[in-house]
Amino acid sequence: MTSELQHTTVLLDEAVDALLGGAGPEPAGTWVDATFGRGGHSRRILLRLGPRGRLVAFDKDPEAIHEATRITDARFSIRHEGFRHLADLPPGSAAGVLMDLGVSSPQIDSPERGFSFRFDGPLDMRMDTTRGESVAQWLTTAEVQQIAEVIRDYGEERFAGPIAKAIVARREERGPLATTAELADLVAGAVKTRESGQNPATRTFQALRIFINAELEELQQALEASLSVLQPGGRLVVISFHSLEDRIVKQFIAQHSKEVYDRRMPFAPPKVMKLVALDRIKPSAAEVSANPRSRSAIMRVAERTEA
Ligand SMILES: C[S@@+](CC[C@H](N)C(=O)[O-])C[C@H]1O[C@@H](n2cnc3c(N)ncnc32)[C@H](O)[C@@H]1O
Repeated sequence: MTSELQHTTVLLDEAVDALLGGAGPEPAGTWVDATFGRGGHSRRILLRLGPRGRLVAFDKDPEAIHEATRITDARFSIRHEGFRHLADLPPGSAAGVLMDLGVSSPQIDSPERGFSFRFDGPLDMRMDTTRGESVAQWLTTAEVQQIAEVIRDYGEERFAGPIAKAIVARREERGPLATTAELADLVAGAVKTRESGQNPATRTFQALRIFINAELEELQQALEASLSVLQPGGRLVVISFHSLEDRIVKQFIAQHSKEVYDRRMPFAPPKVMKLVALDRIKPSAAEVSANPRSRSAIMRVAERTEA
């Protein structure tokens, strides 16, 4: 059922142009799409690669993997694992790495995946439904303090404390939360102010999703891995959808795109920079009006240096 739902690829031309930008005609070598989704970027990359190009894609979601099996191009392969496994590729082997972070529309729009407060379904939110704990399972044993920290840190929610207390009180009185509607109702009761145009459960759902999928830790690991995997001149292109992700990407690029002097050894040569920041791009007004889900996207592009 989920596989019938569509995903509109964000920044399709911009991302593929940025990734292949330095490569010349008929690019060869190994290219990485770290977030296959429904394959919008992957299919476009394959159209642009030459006969000696290869595309290796990753996704955690079994339904994305199923969709990927429809691509019969011999230059393409898919791995059902988190993109921190970029680190398993041989050093210096990748001509470019693309990451289009977050969830796909089929994930959000499928009630049975439990990502959205807009539909009632099981409180799951795992990208990889074949392993790990669902949100409902985690909430049956997590302590108030842990729940509050997750909702505050990953949702930037002012009412994290009252929401966490309400979750635990409900668990003790009536048993654990099982569905998205139960959580959304409970949060609506605990959040005392309203942000215009935003459901009061938005921040809590975002926080629990980021936590249960270890999204920020895995992003940091994958960015580090990209440094060893990218060949000199290879591009890193990352599209993020909220400020917590973008901050990590921005700081990572900034940290590796300056020469670092050791203050204890002022005459020693600086540690050489590993990246050059090339671009920061947002969707055009036309793209946002055609696909409102693209409105919060920010794409950052960096290039691996020769060093
Ligand atoms: C925004 S969608 C990608 C859409 C894709 N670019 C397209 O055009 O169809 C993000 C995808 O990345 C996957 N994903 C998110 N974090 C991941 C991670 N850490 N490792 C592997 N896949 C991940 C999700 O399961 C989802 O399918």
